[in-house]
Amino acid sequence: MSEQLKGKRVVESAIHDQVAVVYPNDLNAYGTLFGGRVLEISDRLAGVVAKRHSGRVCVTLSVDSVRFHSPAKHGDVLVFQASVNRVWNTSMEIGLKVFVEEFRTLARKHIVSAYFTFVAVGDDMKPVKIPPILPETEDEKRRFAQADERRRLRLMAP
Ligand SMILES: CC(C)(COP(=O)(O)OP(=O)(O)OC[C@H]1O[C@@H](n2cnc3c(N)ncnc32)[C@H](O)[C@@H]1OP(=O)(O)O)[C@@H](O)C(=O)NCCC(=O)NCCS
Repeated sequence: MSEQLKGKRVVESAIHDQVAVVYPNDLNAYGTLFGGRVLEISDRLAGVVAKRHSGRVCVTLSVDSVRFHSPAKHGDVLVFQASVNRVWNTSMEIGLKVFVEEFRTLARKHIVSAYFTFVAVGDDMKPVKIPPILPETEDEKRRFAQADERRRLRLMAP
């Protein structure tokens, strides 16, 4: 009989308020935030969420639906949020959003979104089972419900 893993709440692994400041070496040739830099930070953070949830080494299987909604500039404060949307067997989807925070008013503008798929692996680097995720809030339940269709499309892609 296969082992039943205990479910974990989304909040137990989520990152809500990871900040980074845009420095000159984060900029592209046009003087705005380089998208590849944002994705690098995002992949690292999503990887932490994946490891927290699974308690395993996790590797990035894919990144999709990356959308750069608005640019950011030198000196901007970036706020990263990432959480597990859904777990299947050995894979999980992590949704990530990046905001620019205006330091005087603390108003946030959503500038980037993306979905990361991570796979938990054992010592042999083969996929291993991940604990179920327990969505609680309305947003968590909506993301959980919508994730299955995104996975279906990913699995169809060549
Ligand atoms: C990730 C990796 C371990 C998966 O190994 P694999 O033998 O292909 O594993 P499987 O075919 O059993 O698939 C593993 C999971 O990925 C899912 N998967 C496979 N292709 C997928 C796709 N295109 N989209 C979404 N999920 C996918 C499978 O459905 C399975 O999930 P499930 O168990 O929850 O159903 C392997 O591909 C790998 O090592 N890739 C390199 C990872 C890497 O180097 N990342 C960058 C640095 S971290």
